[in-house]
Formats: sequence, structure tokens, C-alpha cells
Amino acid sequence: MGSIKKIVLAYSGGLDTSVILRWLKEKYKAQVITYTANLGQGISLEGIKEKALRTGASKAYIEDLREEFCQNYVLPALRAGALYEGKYPLATALARPLITKGLVHLAEKEGAEAIAHGCSGKGNDQVRFEVTAKALNPEIIILAPLREWEFNSREEEIRYAQLKNIPIQVKEESPYSIDRNLWGISIECGSLEDPWTEPPSDSYQITKSPEDAPSKPVYIEIEFKEGVPVGINGKNYSLVELIEWLNKIGADNGVGRIDLIENRLVGIKSREIYEAPAAVILHQAHRELESMTLDKDTLHFKPIVSGIYSDLVYNGLWYSPLRKALDSFTNETQKVVSGIVRMRLFKGNSQITGRKSPYSLYDKKLATYGEEDIFNQKASKGFVQIWGLSLQTIAKLGKKSPKKN
Ligand code: ARG
Repeated sequence: MGSIKKIVLAYSGGLDTSVILRWLKEKYKAQVITYTANLGQGISLEGIKEKALRTGASKAYIEDLREEFCQNYVLPALRAGALYEGKYPLATALARPLITKGLVHLAEKEGAEAIAHGCSGKGNDQVRFEVTAKALNPEIIILAPLREWEFNSREEEIRYAQLKNIPIQVKEESPYSIDRNLWGISIECGSLEDPWTEPPSDSYQITKSPEDAPSKPVYIEIEFKEGVPVGINGKNYSLVELIEWLNKIGADNGVGRIDLIENRLVGIKSREIYEAPAAVILHQAHRELESMTLDKDTLHFKPIVSGIYSDLVYNGLWYSPLRKALDSFTNETQKVVSGIVRMRLFKGNSQITGRKSPYSLYDKKLATYGEEDIFNQKASKGFVQIWGLSLQTIAKLGKKSPKKN
């Protein structure tokens, strides 16, 4: 391996990545270029370039990826029904391949041999960064200082930062590790590590607790076109706006809290809580519209795709041929997933209260028990006889066969 002269670092401006920046620069005697993606973290990115430069970066980039994130990562996952282990909408997992793409492209543009990230050696994110980077550029070198360096605690990192005059805010340490973007917030550590402990109120970042939520329900109508949410209450929104809007109204009504013991790829079971109001509402509404518009066989097949899709995303395999193939399947199914879903948000709950679609397969004349019924009940007689024939045959034989105990 030749020597490394330039490194592109995924930089958040927090303690870890600030210390990494300087540490890389000194260890490799290399230029470090920082890359910060705006994914709707809910914090201001103002001043972050200056901070990187003061810490020793040779250049600092910020890129607004919100639109691309929603269109090309969140939306396919929503339409595929991807919820890891049936619950987690994958906010963190979906962001990683996009950030990595940004890193790799910047490295190529800047002629950097390596990229670096601040993920620990125990989590999924290291896998997502590195598998994606190699899928996009098989030659790129990946550096993961957190897995290798000499520091064993936050205190040691702070001491190093002070010694090197690295600008850090030594604020009251939050007990939680938080990762946030438009699609949701992932929260772990602190007292959440005890799975029997109820998440303390300060662990939640945006959602009201149900008891503090308004005592009057809020009704919303979400419109979908071919599986894409396009409007709320009769008004059209871009995907970014729509997600922001639902995050706000959901959070105000205590909707979107998820508490999960999940299986990490590295073999650890971990307890994480999530706040994802828009994701919870949209998955629920989307699924509801599918119930109305997809034929039974496709509807029953879809959860198989959803399960595999969510595993691929969770396990860092976004850029796999299978994910693309599953997108094609999903695209085909979504042609009829248009219509409006009405929901009621109330004290931590989101409930479906109505749905309609130009492609609805619900036929009231078939379903009704009223006068306009057109279903031919006489035809059922032969159908039921043949449907049950095999069980009837087994039962007849059973009479003759030796007694079972
Ligand atoms: N468990 C989630 C995942 O693997 C989130 C990981 C990051 N969580 C955090 N609190 N920093 O996708």
C-alpha cells in the first residue's frame, strides 16, 4: 500500500470526529478534507466549516442531501414496506450509503486515497460505510480510527483535544448516543441499556409524551400517487416538506415512538429507541392503501419482500443487485397504490379512519349484506365442497386407521 496523502473524513463537528481529524493528520502526515452531509439533523451546520478548518482540515465541504435522501433512499424503502424486525424504519441505516457515496465521490474529485469515519467497532454503521465504499470504489482505503486508536474514554479524547487546542464544546455530557435525520432519530446508551427501564422523558428528542399531547384528536388525509406520498389535507408538498410536516404534527401528538431490542449484524442484541413520527404514519397509511388496491396474492407476497429489503438496508447491502431487483418488483406493485388515507392522531396513537382509491378492489356490491348484494351465494355450495374435499378424505380414512393415542 502506497502512502496516504489525502483523506476525506465524514465529519459531524462533534468530539469524536474533531479528535479524529487531528489524529489522522498527525498519524498519516496527510491532508484531511472534511465532508458533512445535511440530512435534516435538526442542528445548525453553521460554523462547521470554520470549525473543521480551525481543527486542521485543509478543506471543508458541506452538502445538502435532504432531497436526494428522501427521493432515492427513504422513498424506495417506504414503498417496499421496509421496517427492520417489523418496527425500525431504518433512518440511520438508509443515510449511511448516501453519506458514503458523498465521501467516495469527494475523495475521487480531490484525488484522495482514503476515506475515514468515526464509527465504533461494535455497531452496524462501520459495516454500512465500508461495504458501500468498496461497492462504489473497490480500491479506496478506509480508515476507522475509533477501532484502532489509543484513547479509551471520552475523558482521554477531551484531554487530547485540549492539548492540541481543538475547538470542542465540553458541554454537560448527554447520557445518550443520538443519530438524527429527516426520517427519524435513533437513541441509545445511558439508562436505555437496561431493557427493563422505561425510557426517561429526557431520552425523547421531539415527541411529546402521550399524556402531554392535546386532548383533542387531529385528523389528517394523506394522498399517495403510485405509492408516493404527494399531499396532505388536499395540499401538495415536496417529499422533504411532507416528511417535515408529518414529523411535526406526529411529534406534537406523541406519535412515532418505538422501543426495540434489535439484532445488530455484529451479533449483539441492543436496545434502542426511535422517534420517527413521519415514518410511522407514512408506513401505516401506505400499507393501508395497499390493502385496498393490491390483489390478495401480491399483498400476501409483499411482506416477504419487505423483510428481505429491510435486512439488506440494515446490513449495509444497499448497493446490492438484490436490492435493485426488489425495487423493480416494488415499482411494478405500486402502479395502483394511489388514493387517500384518513388518519386520526391522538395521544400517541395513529389510527386509520378511512381510505379511498380510484384503483380500489373493494366492491361494496360484493361485500354488502344489504339489498344491493350481487354475490351469488348458491355458487358457494360447490366451491366449499371442493375446497374441503382433501380434509374430508383424510377424515374418512382416519376412521379406518389404527387408533392414535
Ligand atoms: N441501531 C440503529 C442502526 O443500526 C441506529 C444506530 C445508531 N444509533 C445511535 N444512537 N447513534 O441502524
